[in-house]
Amino acid sequence: MTQRVAIIGAGPSGMAQLRAFQSAQEKGADIPEIVCFEKQSDWGGQWNYTWRTGMDENGEPVHTSMYRYLWSNGPKECLEFADYTFEEHFGRPIASYPPREVLWDYIKGRVEKAGVRKYIRFSTPVRHIEFNEETDNFTVTVHDHNEDKVYSEDFDYVVVCSGHFSTPNVPEYPGFESFGGRVLHAHDFRDALEFKDKDILVVGSSYSAEDIGSQCYKYGARSITSCYRSEPMGFDWPDNWEEKPALTHVDENMAFFSDGSSKHIDAIILCTGYIHHFPFLNDDLRLITDNRLWPLDLYQGVVWEDNPKLFYIGMQDQWYSFNMFDAQAWFARDVMLGRIPLPSADEMKADSAQWRIKELKLETAKEMYEYQGAYILHLIKQTDYPTFDIDGVNQTFLEWKHHKKEDIMGFRNHSYRSLMTGTMSPPHHTPWLDALDDSLEAYLADAEPASKKAAG
Ligand SMILES: Cc1cc2nc3c(=O)[nH]c(=O)nc-3n(C[C@H](O)[C@H](O)[C@H](O)COP(=O)(O)OP(=O)(O)OC[C@H]3O[C@@H](n4cnc5c(N)ncnc54)[C@H](O)[C@@H]3O)c2cc1C
Ligand SMILES: NC(=O)c1ccc[n+]([C@@H]2O[C@H](COP(=O)([O-])OP(=O)(O)OC[C@H]3O[C@@H](n4cnc5c(N)ncnc54)[C@H](OP(=O)(O)O)[C@@H]3O)[C@@H](O)[C@H]2O)c1
Repeated sequence: MTQRVAIIGAGPSGMAQLRAFQSAQEKGADIPEIVCFEKQSDWGGQWNYTWRTGMDENGEPVHTSMYRYLWSNGPKECLEFADYTFEEHFGRPIASYPPREVLWDYIKGRVEKAGVRKYIRFSTPVRHIEFNEETDNFTVTVHDHNEDKVYSEDFDYVVVCSGHFSTPNVPEYPGFESFGGRVLHAHDFRDALEFKDKDILVVGSSYSAEDIGSQCYKYGARSITSCYRSEPMGFDWPDNWEEKPALTHVDENMAFFSDGSSKHIDAIILCTGYIHHFPFLNDDLRLITDNRLWPLDLYQGVVWEDNPKLFYIGMQDQWYSFNMFDAQAWFARDVMLGRIPLPSADEMKADSAQWRIKELKLETAKEMYEYQGAYILHLIKQTDYPTFDIDGVNQTFLEWKHHKKEDIMGFRNHSYRSLMTGTMSPPHHTPWLDALDDSLEAYLADAEPASKKAAG
């Protein structure tokens, strides 16, 4: 009987899994029957922007944490697919830090070409997954919002691609209940213009804090204060951006910090990260981890060791992103197709433990992206995913880090060479700080449209 595979989520990871199967089929393999369940009405995961916050049109938690004017925070050369280049998609080289809409277009292009949209059931969140010991398969229960029907189907394999930057980690500080302005998590941040002429506080010192603070600076906040729990971001910030140690409490309009200082604040944006959240899985199948490079219980970072018919894609913290999901999806596919034999559960756990030991020794950012690069290469060597110049990507990450250190508001003006095609990217027509229009049309134009310039 034909095997059946359920893919949960049609974001970049789920799209990679769909493309992996289609690629095998294209080369003559028999592939299982595939059904991808997607909660949203379109694909792209985080990259599928919505103005909504809180609940979506079906009463489901809004998935995306992306906001207007979001540009890639790393060079696109580090995330390029090895089997579908930017040049192939856009018909010419483009600049290195595309805005969200441009990257969304790129990831859609590959799967449109592959013709895999037909496998996806949209507006259909997965409610529950149960493993049946007697029949050695899974029962997947979903809610089809198009028909408003809850139903169940059985599958031989399940691939969880539901992402882990959606469910916010929301700490509370004394005084929040009587604070006079807005308190929100980064997940609900949508438009920096809301904070024009305001004094804002961003809590946290990672990518969201850096980028949301930068957005607010770019679009006219009066001042930005960021505060850290462990380490400052330490960039050379503009004059109206101050970095403070930990927030201790707030009152109606002041924030107080652990060094005894205080500041007037109009709004607080909690850039305090996300939690891995799988409300559709019981404990025996549920990945429990913090945001890190080597979550335990996943052989090769992908296979659920206690039940190797279950897979997780994209659950690691991400230096690498799209091409790592590919490497993982190709690996998971080949396990499902019986091309890659799995060792015993004990051997899988011992292998993961080795990766974890190495992960715990990592100290610098360079060591971390090199570790993730080595992991990806290790996966690629076991499948037919086209290999690529991982050392070159690591080198690009290094340059990116230098460029950020040099000029945190200007690093996106740099260009890098594609590791897939060898082509040097052209510079963007407008420095990032002046480029207020983040549309695909404006980005791909030869110069910033005059009307937008005037409007800005
Ligand atoms: C603000 C922000 C900015 C980012 N910027 C970058 C960047 O510049 N470059 C970069 O490389 N990465 C960036 N990332 C990382 C981003 O998470 C990855 O690029 C990528 O989107 C991860 O893909 P994914 O498919 O694993 O998860 P997601 O993109 O989160 O997709 C998961 C999908 O699963 C669906 N889903 C969830 N639960 C269910 C369910 N129960 N049933 C059915 N479907 C479900 C969701 O609707 C969604 O479509 C950013 C992340 C955030 C939060
Ligand atoms: N394209 C873009 O421009 C863009 C923009 C935003 C985000 N992203 C992506 O989104 C993903 C998530 O990034 P993220 O920054 O949201 O999460 P993150 O990298 O997990 O960082 C979470 C931050 O929150 C802090 N934190 C957690 N709990 C806290 C608490 N109770 N009090 C104070 N601080 C607390 C952490 O501090 P400690 O260090 O002390 O733990 C850390 O600084 C990343 O992949 C990133 O690349 C991209």
